[in-house]
Amino acid sequence: MTGVDPALHTELCELLGIRYPIIQTGMGWVSDPRLTAATSAAGGLGILSGALLNTTELRAAIQQIKQSTDASFGVNLRSDHAQAAEMAEILINEGVRVASFALAPKPELIARFKEAGVIVIPSIGARRHAEKVAAQGVDAVIAQGAEGGGHTGQVPTGLLIPQVVDAVSIPVIAAGGFFDGRGLVAALSYGAQGIAMGTRFLLTQESPVADSVKRRYLAAAVTDTVVTKQIDGVPQRVLRAGPVAELERANPVTRLARAASNAVAFRRLSGDSWPSLIREGLAMKRSNELSWSQVVMAANAPMLYRAGLVEAREDVGVTASGQVVGLIDDLPTCAELLERIMRQANEVIERFHVGDR
Ligand SMILES: Cc1cc2nc3c(=O)[nH]c(=O)nc-3n(C[C@H](O)[C@H](O)[C@H](O)COP(=O)(O)O)c2cc1C
Repeated sequence: MTGVDPALHTELCELLGIRYPIIQTGMGWVSDPRLTAATSAAGGLGILSGALLNTTELRAAIQQIKQSTDASFGVNLRSDHAQAAEMAEILINEGVRVASFALAPKPELIARFKEAGVIVIPSIGARRHAEKVAAQGVDAVIAQGAEGGGHTGQVPTGLLIPQVVDAVSIPVIAAGGFFDGRGLVAALSYGAQGIAMGTRFLLTQESPVADSVKRRYLAAAVTDTVVTKQIDGVPQRVLRAGPVAELERANPVTRLARAASNAVAFRRLSGDSWPSLIREGLAMKRSNELSWSQVVMAANAPMLYRAGLVEAREDVGVTASGQVVGLIDDLPTCAELLERIMRQANEVIERFHVGDR
């Protein structure tokens, strides 16, 4: 694309080595090597979901991206993963530019990445979390407003972004509810350096989500998502469908029964043994003060998402989504999407300048 207004080439573009200030966030079962490479090749920053991979799969996925594009990309990790340190070394050895995190990374992990020159960008949903990670030395934050998909906070994007921009001196990337060029300009006018999008990239040609599931997202309205703690004890925004609708309606006793029957279904899908599921569940119960039905669901959370997104199992699967799903009605390629957003953003800025001429 030619003629991008200089206002759209922010410091974040320089920091990350990207053409457009647009990030495709890490999403479990969604941001695979193909989607990540497509976003990065089109001028944004693609972020691979690494949290659900083992170390061999992670290295292979990173190499697959490097084979399809020379552009910068990132990897999303879980700081509490048992092999987080080994995964960090893989990112460093493979020359990955950015490490992103759903929750605050541990200080020793931040230090290791900084020493190796990897840019660290956690997602946060509240000002105090932004202040905490900024003090620990991260390079930028993705500030996700309440309307965003997956794990999410309580403060809407329009309030969170100015709050965080005023609180920290590192670049802030706005997330939660973005899908077009107007949103990009709005984010920049709040003082953010770019936007990060999940749901919008889930609904692209390169996204690996099953076609029937994409159609269900396209049919959803702004009011068709719900924030629930029933999946892993932490608030998550998901489509109000399948087991989520049932669990939200149920009382504590039927909720446990429903969660247990999901567990039976998922143990078969995942092949995990009961002892390992129970061990994982008990550890979560101790660390997160969960109810028993939440423990049962949480131990299966990655499988719940796989069933929802990849296997298109509407009965038992879970599908994370931002409210922005209600404003999305097509499946562009990543390149078409980025060009469209940049064109619209340019047009908006042009309109601001009309009075100057
Ligand atoms: C299907 C789905 C899966 C997600 N999985 C993750 C994840 O594994 N790690 C993470 O940091 N954020 C995850 N998120 C949150 C996104 O990275 C992003 O911050 C959020 O979608 C932004 O809001 P939006 O959906 O309104 O664009 C997920 C979101 C969705 C929709």
